[in-house]
Amino acid sequence: MSTSPRGRLPLPELAEMKRRGEKIVMVTAYDAPGARFAEDAGVDILLVGDTAAMVVLGHDGTTVPVTMDEMLFLARTVSRAARRPLVVGDMPFGSYQVSDEEAVRNAIRFVKEARTDAVKLEGAGASLSRVRAIVGAGIPVMGHVGLTPQSATMLGGFKTQGKTADAARRVVEDALALEEAGCFSVVLEAVPAPVAAEIKRRLTVPSIGIGAGPDCDGQVLVYHDLLGLTEGHLPRFVKRYANLSREIRDALDAYVHDVRTGVFPDEEHAYEMPHEERELFDGADHLEQHPASQHGHD
Ligand code: KIV
Repeated sequence: MSTSPRGRLPLPELAEMKRRGEKIVMVTAYDAPGARFAEDAGVDILLVGDTAAMVVLGHDGTTVPVTMDEMLFLARTVSRAARRPLVVGDMPFGSYQVSDEEAVRNAIRFVKEARTDAVKLEGAGASLSRVRAIVGAGIPVMGHVGLTPQSATMLGGFKTQGKTADAARRVVEDALALEEAGCFSVVLEAVPAPVAAEIKRRLTVPSIGIGAGPDCDGQVLVYHDLLGLTEGHLPRFVKRYANLSREIRDALDAYVHDVRTGVFPDEEHAYEMPHEERELFDGADHLEQHPASQHGHD
């Protein structure tokens, strides 16, 4: 397999994987340790998702507030750590909606300042002209249809999309239009499995599913969701592969207990000094602490 100039997975390799029927694995990443863990596990694409708003930055139930500067900071960190996986920067709400020019300017910031390999944006409609403009500027774009969280209010909430025949046809058309506009891949979020299967069949570029059933060319999950770092309600499509929030809570409870009771730090976690130095030090300490009694001896 050839490599890109920076040793990252070459973009055409994704289409080759689709052709060979090899599943593409994508996961979100927001920091260097996460990027390294995912790379070591063999992940192909790291998506610096705007889900950062919720899972990292503490915004409740919405991706809308995350800013370009926040996304660039996170993307730069992931990009610095990643060697082989392709790094995709998710364009936040407001960074591409106003005009093609602004979309291109912000996409350039992702590749230039954060060193991502590509950007992702949501929706079809007006986004199609943004995709053409960004691709025209030489930046690869990943599309995203179905449930598009940045417009969740317009969609009536975080709901499965394409459940009626008409709605399903619209999702298929949107995905095909994104390919036509130049996307190298399209994320399908929360769409019925048969709709995703039809999209996969008709697209020549890879489809990456999240809540879109097993027939997509690849799958993506949010890092914090699959590791059980997210607490509270999770969408039905999330499979938890660990319960790290439980582990973290148990570890922190034990630490707090150990400090309060004096169990930590013990000898094993403290530094000693050579015996003679210790005696000298203790003596000096004694003199310094009791200068009056020293005078008394004179
Ligand atoms: O922002 C994100 O994490 C995403 C994935 C859920 C596809 O867009």
